[in-house]
Order: sequence, then structure tokens, then C-alpha cells
Amino acid sequence: MSELPTNPFRYETIDARPEVINRVSDRQRLREALSEPGRRLLIHGRRRMGKTTLCKSVVEELKAEGLAVMMVDFSTATQLADLSNALLQQITTASGKNWQDYLGDLMRALTLQLETEADPLTGAIKVRLKPVARTAPIDEQRATFVGILDRANELAKQQGRHFGLVIDEFQELARFEDEATLWNLRAVIQHHSNMSYVFTGSRVHLINMLMSSDRAFYKMFSAINFEPVPLQEMRNWLVGKFKASGVSQLDALDRLLELAETCTVDRLRLAAMSFPLAAASGELTEPMVDRAYRAIIAEDQAYFQSDWQQFTQHQQNILRAMAEGEMKLGSESVRRRFSLPASGSVSNTLKALLERGVLYGIESAPGYAYDNPYFKEWVHQRNRLDLGLS
Ligand SMILES: Nc1ncnc2c1ncn2[C@@H]1O[C@H](COP(=O)(O)OP(=O)(O)O)[C@@H](O)[C@H]1O
Ligand SMILES: [Mg+2]
Repeated sequence: MSELPTNPFRYETIDARPEVINRVSDRQRLREALSEPGRRLLIHGRRRMGKTTLCKSVVEELKAEGLAVMMVDFSTATQLADLSNALLQQITTASGKNWQDYLGDLMRALTLQLETEADPLTGAIKVRLKPVARTAPIDEQRATFVGILDRANELAKQQGRHFGLVIDEFQELARFEDEATLWNLRAVIQHHSNMSYVFTGSRVHLINMLMSSDRAFYKMFSAINFEPVPLQEMRNWLVGKFKASGVSQLDALDRLLELAETCTVDRLRLAAMSFPLAAASGELTEPMVDRAYRAIIAEDQAYFQSDWQQFTQHQQNILRAMAEGEMKLGSESVRRRFSLPASGSVSNTLKALLERGVLYGIESAPGYAYDNPYFKEWVHQRNRLDLGLS
């Protein structure tokens, strides 16, 4: 028996040098923003579109060209001090042989307690705040955070160079306290003529909150709305990959793209799941795509189930109606069929689901859509069981 070719579709990890489908103009804007001191760019869009992937790819590219660029991930921090640590680590690495100047500078400017450690294998120095920093008063944590950026800018200025910094999922900053940090950050970074900043964000309602006119970040950034990869380009790319791996009959590719909807990861995932089935015969058929689709839903059902239990009854009922493709959530018949509350309450519930990222906003009726097509299908299947819908 001959071995099947390796699956060409990946979506689970972000490699250091990811192959990025298309994104030519976004990539160019990102490159420019990171290469020119004083620039500020916001990249916003739903999760699973490929923001992190693109940023990482451009950061690696610019590093290879000798620029001092870096990326920090705010998505998992639980304290402001964690963000400071992530920054410290990246900035000291990017300062290269000048890292001691940078730290010396920092310690004079702030009452910082730092500890350093040399990696036994590479000799690279790791710098972090002493653990006590995590329990320091919030004012001090904020001063530390801001000071780290301030001193980085000073160091760059003294050396006649610049640092490019990507902060991934920056809106998580808003989790730690009121808007004081954000205001403070704005006041500080707008004077950083030797830094450039790229902020990415997925939680649309938080970003809107931050960007609305009376808030901290208004007009500080140029912005990229991170759209789906256009259907035709995605299709061409998938065709190329399938064919290069020996699957040349692709009659069911449109079915695949329809079921997966528009997020890059959702598309890649269905392609990855379908591939082993298709590779055996060299042909991608609709039954294979449908089987792969069901397999993804089965794979995620434990997550869906536990998410489902966290929703209120109103939320569940609205999600049920939307999974049946109902457009008029305010109409009497839909309300009766899905036990929906009065319309004011419906719109509050929709907003809450938007804030949780379960839905996202669309132009056409009913103004919202499921973020995750696989979750929508799971709810649709539940409806058949729970409500006896056919
Ligand atoms: N343009 C792309 N080209 C190739 N793979 C991509 C692309 N965009 C996303 N991916 C894949 O999808 C995965 C998740 O994307 P990610 O960058 O984390 O999305 P986001 O940051 O918008 O949530 C990545 O690990 C990568 O494998
Ligand atoms: Mg991301």
C-alpha cells in the first residue's frame, strides 16, 4: 500500500515563517508601519482571520532584514505586570548588545525590581520583574508598563534607530482597570517618535469602545479592517494545494467553501479534514466534504456543549432561531416558535452575544451572524433533537 501524501493544510499552530495566503496590500501597509518611526496602525477583525499569522510573518521578514521589530501577545495576560514582562523580554532582546544600557536606564527612571537569568544553552539574557511586581499597587504597575515603553523610545533616540512593536490583542489592556492606563498610554506613545506601533484586536465591541470619539485611542491610529481572504483567491490557493498533493478532481470545492464560510481557519480546517479522504482516490467529493464537516462538529462538541450551558435561556432561544436562518427575530411567528422575549429584550440579548464574540455584526438582516459556522450547525442539530424541528 502506498503512503498518503502529507496533509498540506495547517491551521493549529502559527509557525515562525508562515506561508500567508495573499494579504498583499495588508502586508505592505504593515511593513510600512513597522519600518517607519512614529507610525501607528490598528488591525482589527474577527478571530481566526489570520491577523496574528500575518503580523508574525512580517515581523520575521523585517527582522531578517535587520530591523529591530518585535511582537508581544496580550491575549493571555492576567495582570498588567504580565504585559510589562512580555514587553521587557522583547525590548531587551531587540536592543541586542545594548540591553544593559536599557535596563540601567529603566532602573534609574523607575523603582523597578528586576531579575535576570542567562539561558544556559544560548547565553541569551532573560529579564523580568520580580514576582512581587504582580502584587504592587496598580499605579506602580501602570508606571512600570508605561516606563518600559518610554525608556525604549529614549534608548532608540540616543542610538539613532527605531523599534517597531506589534501588540497582539491589545484590547485586553482594558481588562485590568478603568481607562486610566489607556489614557496614559496614549499620552505617552504619541510622543514616541522613535517607535512604531501596530495594535491588533479581535474583540470588536471593545475596539469600538476604545476608538469611539471620546475614548483614549481615537484618531491615533490608521486602521486596517481585516477582511476575509476573497473567495476566488482562497479557492485558487486551495486548488493549488490539493493538486500539488495529488487531488485533481475538485468538484466539491465550492461545497467546502460554502460550508466553511469566511474565516481563514474554518476554511483551512475543513480542507485539512477532507484531505485524507480525498487523497486516497485523488478526488474530492461532496460526501467526503460532508463527512469532514460532521467530523469537525463532533470534534468540538464538548466545547459547544459547555458554552451552551453558559448561555441564558434568552440567549439560547435566539441562537436557536438564528441557527434556523430566521431573519425577522421581532416577528410574532418567530417569537412564538422560539419563545423569544419582547423585541427590546431581543436586541439586548443580541448585543450581549456580540460582546462575547459568539455573533458578529453584518450589514444585512438580522444585523448579526454566527461567528462560528460549526457551532451554528451544532445548534441546528440540537434544534432537531430538542424542539423536534425538521
Ligand atoms: N493568510 C493565511 N495563510 C495561511 N494560513 C493562515 C492564514 N491566516 C490564518 N492562517 C492559519 O490560521 C491559523 C489561525 O490564524 P490567526 O493568525 O491566529 O488568526 P487571528 O489572529 O486573526 O485570530 C494560523 O495558525 C494559520 O495556520
Ligand atoms: Mg490572533
